[in-house]
Amino acid sequence: MHEPPLDPAEQPTDAEPALRPLAAGAPVRPADAYAYPPGGPWLRANMIASADGAAARDDRSGGLGNETDRRLLSLLRGLADVVIVGAGTVRAEGYGPVAPGPGGWEKLRAGRSPVPPLAIVSHRLDLDLDAPVFTEADPRARTIVLTTRTAPPGRVRAAAERAEVIVAGEDRLDFAAAVAELMARGHERMLCEGGPRVLAQVVAAGVLDELCLTVSPMLLAGGAVRILNGPAVPVPPRLRLAAAYRDDEDYLFLRYVRR
Ligand SMILES: NC(=O)c1ccc[n+]([C@@H]2O[C@H](COP(=O)([O-])OP(=O)(O)OC[C@H]3O[C@@H](n4cnc5c(N)ncnc54)[C@H](OP(=O)(O)O)[C@@H]3O)[C@@H](O)[C@H]2O)c1
Repeated sequence: MHEPPLDPAEQPTDAEPALRPLAAGAPVRPADAYAYPPGGPWLRANMIASADGAAARDDRSGGLGNETDRRLLSLLRGLADVVIVGAGTVRAEGYGPVAPGPGGWEKLRAGRSPVPPLAIVSHRLDLDLDAPVFTEADPRARTIVLTTRTAPPGRVRAAAERAEVIVAGEDRLDFAAAVAELMARGHERMLCEGGPRVLAQVVAAGVLDELCLTVSPMLLAGGAVRILNGPAVPVPPRLRLAAAYRDDEDYLFLRYVRR
């Protein structure tokens, strides 16, 4: 649907901000709108922030979201080959293994494992290895642990009994190397669900291709972190707005890709 042309008398002047409405038009088919670009590895992050930039409400991101956001999160998981997430988020949000969305993912994941594995970033490996995130993961999508050479050896051995362990980096995970290891295992469509400390390092390592950002229409103040939490990125990547959607509850769904 095209907007009617503005009356010349109403045309913005050069001095006015060049604003554009969020395009009105036919509803999008989300699986197409969020399909990974063909040909090659792609690392996308999916995060939510309040309108004043808070990445958590009462220490959880769920308090910021709504049903549209939850469905989008599920769709993005269904599209991905692997879901990378920090141990802090696994602990804070009580992550279990990825479960198929309502209606199933048969078509979405034809030729792939029924669900993507989680790849949990951790140095200390202070993880409950008896939790469902390890014990109830589909054997075709075993949980992966991304860790470091100096991680506690006993915990590495214990984790290896419940998960696939990938080691990259000495004291800190080398994110570029870890991503390369995931790609080498055929996980080319990667989704990072944060948290903010992990995402800051993913960006600093220069491996983020896309940010799916939900803007939640809330103002929280307080001391909540932003969606990136870490030292200033030396060369901040410039992003291009690839798509912007909204729902009926005033949530914004932005897709930024690296220029
Ligand atoms: N707004 C959103 O979209 C969103 C998304 C996700 C999470 N959150 C919120 O963010 C909070 C959790 O985020 P967070 O930033 O504290 O935690 P996080 O980024 O999920 O995880 C941090 C943990 O990851 C491991 N880690 C990080 N960098 C590492 C490295 N270089 N090498 C090895 N291990 C590394 C460490 O685990 P070990 O301690 O085990 O070594 C560290 O404690 C929660 O409140 C959650 O609700 C918000």
